[in-house]
Amino acid sequence: MSNPHIIAVPFPAQGHVIPLMELSQCLVNHGFRVTFVNTDYNHKQVVNALAADESQLSDRICLVSLPGGLEPWEARHEVGKLCEATERVMPGKLEELIEKINQGEGDKVTCVIADECSGWALEVAEKLNIRRVAFYPASAAILTLQFSIPKLIHQGIINDDGTVLRSQMIQLAPGMPTMKTTEFLWACMGDLTAQKIVFQVMVRNNKAAKLAEWIVCNSAYELEPAAFTVAPEILPIGPLLASSRLGNSACYFWPQDSTCLQWLDQQPPCSVIYVAFGSTTFFDQTQFQELALALELSQRSFLWVVRPDITDKTSDPYPEGYQDRVASCGLMVGWAPQQKVLAHPSIACFLSHCGWNSTIEGLSNGVPFLCWPYCSDQFLNESYICDVWKVGLKLKKNENGIIPQGEIKSKVEQLLGDENFKARASKLKEMGMTSVKEGGQSHRNFKNIIEWMKTC
Ligand code: UDX
Repeated sequence: MSNPHIIAVPFPAQGHVIPLMELSQCLVNHGFRVTFVNTDYNHKQVVNALAADESQLSDRICLVSLPGGLEPWEARHEVGKLCEATERVMPGKLEELIEKINQGEGDKVTCVIADECSGWALEVAEKLNIRRVAFYPASAAILTLQFSIPKLIHQGIINDDGTVLRSQMIQLAPGMPTMKTTEFLWACMGDLTAQKIVFQVMVRNNKAAKLAEWIVCNSAYELEPAAFTVAPEILPIGPLLASSRLGNSACYFWPQDSTCLQWLDQQPPCSVIYVAFGSTTFFDQTQFQELALALELSQRSFLWVVRPDITDKTSDPYPEGYQDRVASCGLMVGWAPQQKVLAHPSIACFLSHCGWNSTIEGLSNGVPFLCWPYCSDQFLNESYICDVWKVGLKLKKNENGIIPQGEIKSKVEQLLGDENFKARASKLKEMGMTSVKEGGQSHRNFKNIIEWMKTC
């Protein structure tokens, strides 16, 4: 008898690959075989980064790659181009891959789990008559916003090409975070052309989601009950974290610098500011230096993730003499083992761009936030953090669009000087973690889905 065999298809960006890999590892622990499909470019990065720690992946996960439609030198952070290239090339390649597997001797593909943002993969699965699960790596609220696009057009809030007609605050339902219409996910993704492409992709994904037999997301009912009430078809199965299954996280595009964990061991409890902006955020020189000086000014210890591509400067991006001056209190690394960092007792707060993975990782460890959102769903996540859960503070830009050092310093002091933030964060941590334990709602949903998958 053949074993259930899942094909997992992420959207080709780091913040999407990590949580789908986490879900894949959970499936493997329940006896499934998983073929995980990256683009050629991302696959190379993952394999290079994995070389440092081969133990992170189970032998029941087969990493494969398909052409992603972009040349190696083309910019992957331009999301419009990334979407266009992916949708042009990958559907045909995925179809060929599935047919090849199914004609072979091994286990036939029984189910496709595709990132909801890669709706084309659900369309391929439907065409080949394979069962389908849509996985959403971010909040239920942002997916609810996407599902509400027809209503937003009908209400005259946006045009049918996604253009925002009125700048206003809206709330999709009581209890949900308020959103600025100009900060709708697609409306803050690059230039106008990119925004229109992203919007069209979301409209297509809305149709594709209807092909899925389950829609699951990396969130918990306790974190966003209103969103799950508005869109009951979305089922929470999170927070998906390596620590919950007592494993290591995997599928990173950069090698992790784990020396920072030993450095954290030497710091007093609740003393370190952790600063990280996910995988794509980019700083201009002025803002980068302002942040650097703010951390120095704070007179606290800090661990700062400075990705090799975080600024456009090829030479030293730091203020003159900076690295020597902060050597005794600050550590900069290219890529940290973030989930382990956030679980470390010396972390006091998280200065974050509010990507959903970072948000959920910070919450799961009871860490308060300083919020610095850039694009995508990050403004909505900030609103959850500051307005709904009240576990963080927003940073304000000045008239030049810069967050100045004084603002950062004073918000650090305000956040760490008020124990209520930490107390609320600790409470949320308990709530979130309960949901993935036996008896919790995310746990129950996950169990139902795997039972169903076994029958596919
Ligand atoms: C993007 C979007 O920003 C996010 O809002 C969306 O929900 C998913 O795609 P990204 O910007 O990379 O992702 O941010 P985030 O969602 O926070 O994901 C970053 C991931 O990289 C996290 O899992 C984090 O633990 C990991 N990370 C980050 C590291 O492991 N080490 C680091 O040094 C920095």
